[in-house]
Amino acid sequence: MDLTERPRRLRRDGIRGLVSETDLSASDLIAPVFVDATTDERVAIESMPGHERVPVAEAVDRVEEIRDTGVEAVIVFGIPESKDEAGTRAWAEDGVVQEAVRRIDAGTDAYVITDVCMCEYTDHGHCGILEPHAHEDPTLTVENDRTLDALGRIAVSHAEAGADMVAPSSMTDGMVGAIRESLDEAGHSAVPIMSYAAKYESAFYGPFRDAADGAPAFGDRRHYQMDPANSREAIREVELDVQQGADVLMVKPALPYLDVVRDVREHFDRPVAAYNVSGEYAMLHAAAENGWLDLEETAYESLLSIKRAGADLILTYFAEDIAARL
Ligand code: PBG
Ligand code: ZN
Repeated sequence: MDLTERPRRLRRDGIRGLVSETDLSASDLIAPVFVDATTDERVAIESMPGHERVPVAEAVDRVEEIRDTGVEAVIVFGIPESKDEAGTRAWAEDGVVQEAVRRIDAGTDAYVITDVCMCEYTDHGHCGILEPHAHEDPTLTVENDRTLDALGRIAVSHAEAGADMVAPSSMTDGMVGAIRESLDEAGHSAVPIMSYAAKYESAFYGPFRDAADGAPAFGDRRHYQMDPANSREAIREVELDVQQGADVLMVKPALPYLDVVRDVREHFDRPVAAYNVSGEYAMLHAAAENGWLDLEETAYESLLSIKRAGADLILTYFAEDIAARL
């Protein structure tokens, strides 16, 4: 056969690594940590095998375990001791995230990111302050502009506790600008913002909502999170966050939205993060438990694909397992 092109030549052992286009390393990964003020023992999260909610007293141990695998960064989520209409425990100086971050900052060398949102702290489970009568009337939703003040306070309280970076996830219009202004006024101009810039209203968040007890008590989040049908809209959303000063741009979920990861990579000159969410984790575990998929191989291939699509950073529940293999 007179073939001029034989791509198989470069697929042999010895040359594969030299021509490989994508690298995955432990320093690309961010591991989620759940700190729970309602328990003094670790509680396994059933729908996310291998993950636990840990009491504040064990936050440092939990982060040390992650650091031992080579992962350098964590994102902290909190389950507060109580919830109310306005989510006031979200910015309390002695709140669960604030206490945990203070200890992690003092006790480890991890890079500490905090999730800035209200859904785990409000008794109605929505990501902000509700319009009056929203319980009864499905056309009502979160009050955008009043929520902005709360988000600014939350971000400042995290920075005061020692957070290295804040990550607003509520999809409130103007959230990045409001948080940037609040941080700067409070003297935290060195704290970067990783915006959940294109966050979709996704059914893949199911296991997380069990883990963090943050499911909405009524209705859903389609009034503020993005419609899965839209990708051009993602560019407009992300553009607004860039104008407001976002330092890192996140797309969430990851695998069902790799086209959006690629679009954001191509349109903006900013680091791109992708959140490989709880449902993406749970489905591989469920299939592996049945013997239908190889967990480690599919997890590795998932993360590699997310990087290949254009992500620089990946938030993933597989962080520890994959870092240990790298
Ligand atoms: C809070 C938040 C959520 C996730 C991260 N931050 C849940 C949601 O928006 O419903 C989801 C993470 C995951 O599923 O792994 N706003
Ligand atoms: Zn939320």
